[in-house]
Amino acid sequence: MDIYYIDGQYVPADQAVIPVNDLALLRGYGVFDFLRTHDGSPFLLQEHLARLKDSAKKIGLYFPWTRKELTEIVNNTIQKNKYGNATVRIIVTGGPSRDFITPDGKPRLLVIVSPAPALPESWYTEGIKVITIELERTIPGAKSINYLDATMALTKARDQGAVEAIYTDTAGFIKEGTTSNLFAFYQDCLITPGKNILSGITRKVILKIAKPLFELKIREIRQDELYRADEIFISGSSKGIVPVVQVNDRVIGSGRPGDRTKALMQQLQEYIKTVTPSGND
Ligand SMILES: Cc1ncc(COP(=O)(O)O)c(C=O)c1O
Repeated sequence: MDIYYIDGQYVPADQAVIPVNDLALLRGYGVFDFLRTHDGSPFLLQEHLARLKDSAKKIGLYFPWTRKELTEIVNNTIQKNKYGNATVRIIVTGGPSRDFITPDGKPRLLVIVSPAPALPESWYTEGIKVITIELERTIPGAKSINYLDATMALTKARDQGAVEAIYTDTAGFIKEGTTSNLFAFYQDCLITPGKNILSGITRKVILKIAKPLFELKIREIRQDELYRADEIFISGSSKGIVPVVQVNDRVIGSGRPGDRTKALMQQLQEYIKTVTPSGND
């Protein structure tokens, strides 16, 4: 059985519980981060821990753990589960609340490790459809546990045969997906939005590996401009790079994953192999 870290203890998954007066349950108040392991090594753990702390700061949640403590707890939980390829969720809940709305200043730390699910091969070979949804996230730079918008948007996407929903703002600019960032190629120029999004760790890696290969622009993309892209892809820790061949009812480029996207998919695989195995970089 999977072993989780729950508020100071390593426990089997079926005994992993927290009290119901936690603000995570009562008010959806808390933050989390999500990463993958590859052959047992966490990928970019330090970057994810830094973002976790920053997310807590952005929502005003007390964060008493040092980077060293967190690294040790996460690595211990990974090792106790012995999965080569696992997903890791590090969650900080709002903790108990006497008035059921404001935190008492005792946040809880939870680490959940489970086997990484195999994603459909066709996403990578054939590409996926996404839909757009007009929705502006509250505090977009924070990875809040409240995914109300995302859950509703993804349900709508699934109903329309799409894999992801992409948020647009009220002015018609593209932002990001429910659990991904978005990139578009116009010939050899790669564009990704930079404002009012979650700063994706995969996005950062892509910007790094794409730099020597393509011209890069971080700027807003209008929805009508997106339809005219030669290639589009989304990125995220759970899925890597996934080519997008349809946005709403519009086919993108040739309707097949493009060569530039495929080159970046290859580069990302190479990059994953080169990062520090211990994750303690
Ligand atoms: C809203 C949002 N944007 C972007 C991402 C991608 O970020 P990362 O590459 O760090 O997984 C996520 C990840 O879940 C997300 O929830």
